[in-house]
Amino acid sequence: MTTKSQALLNWVDERFPLTSSIKGHLTEYYAPKNFNFWYFFGSLALLVLVIQIVTGIFLVMHYKPDASLNVSGVPVAFASVEYIMRDVPGGWIIRYLHSTGASAFFIVVYLHMFRGLLYGSYRKPRELIWIFGTLIFLVLMAEAFMGYLLPWGQMSFWGAQVIVNLFSAIPLIGPDLSLVIRGDFVVSDATLNRFFSFHVIAVPLVLIGLVAAHIVALHEVGSNNPDGVEIKKKKDANGIPLDGIPFHPYYTVKDIVGVVAFLFVFSAVVFFAPEGGGYFLEFNNFLPADPLVTPPHIAPVWYFTPFYSILRAVTYPLFGLDAKFWGVVAMGASVIIIAFLPWLDRSPVKSMRYKGVIFKTAVAIFVVCFCILGYLGVLPPTPGRTLVSQICSVLYFAFFLAMPWYSKIDKCKPEPERVTFK
Ligand code: HEM
Repeated sequence: MTTKSQALLNWVDERFPLTSSIKGHLTEYYAPKNFNFWYFFGSLALLVLVIQIVTGIFLVMHYKPDASLNVSGVPVAFASVEYIMRDVPGGWIIRYLHSTGASAFFIVVYLHMFRGLLYGSYRKPRELIWIFGTLIFLVLMAEAFMGYLLPWGQMSFWGAQVIVNLFSAIPLIGPDLSLVIRGDFVVSDATLNRFFSFHVIAVPLVLIGLVAAHIVALHEVGSNNPDGVEIKKKKDANGIPLDGIPFHPYYTVKDIVGVVAFLFVFSAVVFFAPEGGGYFLEFNNFLPADPLVTPPHIAPVWYFTPFYSILRAVTYPLFGLDAKFWGVVAMGASVIIIAFLPWLDRSPVKSMRYKGVIFKTAVAIFVVCFCILGYLGVLPPTPGRTLVSQICSVLYFAFFLAMPWYSKIDKCKPEPERVTFK
């Protein structure tokens, strides 16, 4: 560094913790040396967050949250999306990056959460990282749900209708609550305007705040790793973990590999299959919203369907409250229960590598049930499908609720002293 640039850096450092932050979070942040493929998804989630914010800023320049009809009888909001797709230079790619980005976000976050499950990353001392993560997941669902209303297509309109109506099943406050959410007695222009406001500023602010808290909490305790061994327990004379390597340059470079691989797949979808076979952009959403024509089959976007299936699996009233209410409770509980994982897992080891056959089988059954629930959620219900979704819902909850018991009796292998690394 030249003396001039060093002098400038000193000037900044006296007023702002620049060098110390770079050291603390990058060049002298020691991450375990045995990170594998699964550790790409945190940085990829950050990348998708940035893609969504940047493309979102450009979409807002041309999009209009207005449900009134234009001279051609098409809702202005729907027409503004068509305008972005056909007339705004580069508008189509900005929109497809954003719509594909929504699905990519959930793919990456689901894999990121699964990694946590594989390696027990939620266990002490990382409970708060996990709780912030669960909150991020909840907020992300709200963000995606509100964003989906904005193109004001048939699925936007009727999907919002179904989901907002669910809140009315809550005793006493339900009907008023759904009225407050909609801002009207039906999904209307008022709903579109408030969802727009929440989607572009309120919820992203919360999301960014939570992601910052997630990473601050991570850097306070340090990363877990595929062996679930605490690297801070074995340090050298300088206090540096023996199994740690500086995050920068080692993992910044490694993460670039993940970013390139991700962008390959992501671009392939954006350029060749942006509708994702009707899963990323539903076919009915290419029709403008029509409050007088209900689509024959209303299904949420794929990333909501496991939880939607749990909602539909509840078909019996209980304690004088109807099935819809208990369905909403079950759906809410199926997300909230994830936050309790740190206290449900009583296994003596963290990583799946050293867990016994019972835990491994439980995770395998859980993953299969989650996928079946997701698949059933896009299909119209039949008595047979409802039965399967009921069985899978019971197994979903059993995975969590029986964990304190089966994680204790499971025969685990001993954890190694140091991380294993080839
Ligand atoms: C916007 C969404 C999210 C972003 C941007 C994000 C970002 C990150 C980053 C950059 C890391 C460090 C790198 C890594 O370990 O992969 C990380 C770690 C972690 N995240 Fe997330 N995350 C998100 C959502 C979630 C969710 C939904 C959960 C769980 C419910 C979660 C749980 C964790 C855990 C437990 C760790 C520590 C992993 C370990 O040390 O083994 N994250 N996250």
